[in-house]
Amino acid sequence: MKKLVWVAAITLALGFSAPVLAADGGALYKSKCSACHGATAKGGPMAPGLVGTDFIGGDAGAIKDTIMNGRAGGAKKYPKFALSMPPFKVSDAEADAIVAYLKGL
Ligand code: HEC
Repeated sequence: MKKLVWVAAITLALGFSAPVLAADGGALYKSKCSACHGATAKGGPMAPGLVGTDFIGGDAGAIKDTIMNGRAGGAKKYPKFALSMPPFKVSDAEADAIVAYLKGL
């Protein structure tokens, strides 16, 4: 009987953790990026738009690099924004999910 309870507990734990493991790019974008890039990623007074630009249409690795390392000082491409792009501590899978979300907008 004790064994059965364990099997049930493990099955439940796995069942509930599965959606967390599959990173949700849209949810991550909303919580980490939308304050600057806008709810619909069309940009705003703080940061450039991320919908249908050449950069977002381009190399996924460069987009991931921007997310994980940020862009400040001489690396900045848009001097008109006073802020820098901050680096984000996201996992590789989370960064992939955000890139996929942005490319699909
Ligand atoms: C504090 C505000 C802020 C937040 C939060 C922020 N960004 Fe940025 N982001 C910027 C600014 C400012 C730039 C422009 C940097 C530059 O001048 O090159 C930028 C640039 C970018 C670029 C490059 C765009 C291009 O055309 O070169 C990408 C991609 C990007 N951000 C993605 C994200 C993602 C994804 C998130 C969330 C994980 C995020 N940003 C969160 C401010 C922010």
